Amino acid sequence: MSGESGVGEPVAVRPCTAADGDAVVALWAACGLVVPWNDPAADFALALSKPNATVLAAVADGRIVASVMVGQEGHRGWMYYVAVDPARQGQGLGRRMVAEAEAWLTAAGMPKVQLLVRDTNQRVLAFYERLGYATSPVTMMQKWLKTPPSP
Ligand SMILES: CC(C)(COP(=O)(O)OP(=O)(O)OC[C@H]1O[C@@H](n2cnc3c(N)ncnc32)[C@H](O)[C@@H]1OP(=O)(O)O)[C@@H](O)C(=O)NCCC(=O)NCCS
Repeated sequence: MSGESGVGEPVAVRPCTAADGDAVVALWAACGLVVPWNDPAADFALALSKPNATVLAAVADGRIVASVMVGQEGHRGWMYYVAVDPARQGQGLGRRMVAEAEAWLTAAGMPKVQLLVRDTNQRVLAFYERLGYATSPVTMMQKWLKTPPSP
């Protein structure tokens, strides 16, 4: 999981370890992905604690500059927290992280990958469409199985 990403220096992509938690959560916050009803540190720890999920990180100059959380539940693959350091956006890193997640899911035998886009983040749809994704005519329903973090 290493190589080039767009222009610039080589960027290595690797699975995160627990020691990456603070840096990854800071990246998610810088990218506007942290919301009151999700605890990002808990999300990170939960993904790393499961054999069917992980968080992949791109590292450049010793710093985590991009991420994707990826996992599968035996039927579909899912991506979350696709994030690129704002100073490095527009250089191919987002495309690279999605490709890394797709490769992880392909290796896990998943036939399809899905993701959720918040209503407040509609401008990112064009990014995913550029990568071959299409909106799906489904309605997501949800229910908390534990008390959600208070806003
Ligand atoms: C969305 C995000 C991950 C894209 O990362 P990025 O590194 O800037 O994207 P890339 O440079 O890899 O772009 C890949 C392609 O998508 C296109 N693209 C990127 N953002 C786009 C946008 N907002 N609208 C249209 N096209 C876009 C690029 O032009 C590029 O096209 P090309 O490779 O054919 O030339 C990044 O902007 C980000 O972290 N945003 C904040 C967090 C976020 O919203 N994450 C998604 C949560 S669902």
